[in-house]
Amino acid sequence: MSTRFTGIKLGPPIEVFALQKSFIDDTDENKVNLAIGAYRTNEGKPWVLPVVKKVEKLLAADDLQNHEYLPVLGLEAFSEAATSMLLGANSPVIAQGRAFGIQSLSGTGALRVAAEFLSRILHYDTFYYSKPSWDYVLIENHRLVFTNGGFKNACEYTYWNEKTRNIDLEGMLNDLKDAPENAVIVLHACAHNPTGCDPTLEQWGKIADLIQEKRLFPLFDSAYQGFASGDLDKDACAVRMFAERGIEFICTQSFAKNFGLYNERVGNIVFVLADTKELIQTKSQITLIIRGMYSNPPNHGARIVSTVMRNPELFEEWRDHIRTMSSRIKQMRVGLHQRLLKLGTPGIWDHIIQQIGMFSYTGLTERQVQHLKEHYHIYMLRSGRINMCGLNESNLDYVANAIDETIKLFPQTQSDCTC
Ligand code: LMR
Repeated sequence: MSTRFTGIKLGPPIEVFALQKSFIDDTDENKVNLAIGAYRTNEGKPWVLPVVKKVEKLLAADDLQNHEYLPVLGLEAFSEAATSMLLGANSPVIAQGRAFGIQSLSGTGALRVAAEFLSRILHYDTFYYSKPSWDYVLIENHRLVFTNGGFKNACEYTYWNEKTRNIDLEGMLNDLKDAPENAVIVLHACAHNPTGCDPTLEQWGKIADLIQEKRLFPLFDSAYQGFASGDLDKDACAVRMFAERGIEFICTQSFAKNFGLYNERVGNIVFVLADTKELIQTKSQITLIIRGMYSNPPNHGARIVSTVMRNPELFEEWRDHIRTMSSRIKQMRVGLHQRLLKLGTPGIWDHIIQQIGMFSYTGLTERQVQHLKEHYHIYMLRSGRINMCGLNESNLDYVANAIDETIKLFPQTQSDCTC
């Protein structure tokens, strides 16, 4: 029998998930997973946060909980708490009623709804995303989400200076100067993925100046609030600066990493408007977009997050968990850095301790990454991005030695350098 499904092109694999599968299938006892962005304990295990476990037990015992539909825009108690976590409990924008949140299917779902809204309702057609970007070698995810969401023109802005292993602010501002009015600029609120380098507050000020001057539209992707510095307020300072300046923006929030609720898909889309006049209309259009996409969001994860955030004791317990996670990451940075220095590994390694958040953009070449996987069973993205949480006291020596031997075997050549 003939099939209608002939001639379909094979799509490229999604690198992080393909590596995750290869890692699981790998039977080598020394294998190390530094690929997918998920927290691991010092024992190399996933961590269900104790406060999450506690609330799950409370919810399971609560006879008032049920499995009825949530409203199309989600659990209001959750969205309000998430919006206030982003903008600050005393945010004037919230007090003036110019900000609101909408529950979404984690950060990616939030981005997709935002993209559909911006392209279909505001008729924006051009967006800019950082180079390099999240999951960037095969398919950049911001690009995939925004083009699927109706945008016609996908453009990159320079973000990285490979020589200094730091932000290329001048390159970034130059690229944004060329952007047409109403271009959507996708910014990482903190702990940039994959580079682990954020602009300083002064640099954010310059970015904000240009965005205002050129009438661009900023969209913050906030997937790591709390993970960059261990402090929720510090990690939101760029977003809050834009709000204070009276700039209109959207911010997509994910609670995958900071609550360890990866597969519960807990997210929020924050809209900050210049005034309250268009608020009801805006919400009504988003309602239609969500109704036509997945109808309404799931309850479980959002209920956990809102329960924690609305109870001062549970909230404090959670903030402590964030500090535990971010300080373990910092320890692993120091541990890897020290070992590479001690081994005399060719290259400069200070960026490992200077970068922040879950990832380090190591500068390892594709050839080196391939060798590390094939020879040592150490998995990382082709771009050289490693998840610092995959390191622990038991595998630090193994990984440092493997990196050292690999670099000596396959030294970086001029042609490896994309700068
Ligand atoms: C990552 O960057 O590894 C995570 O955000 C997982 C994902 O969905 O890409």
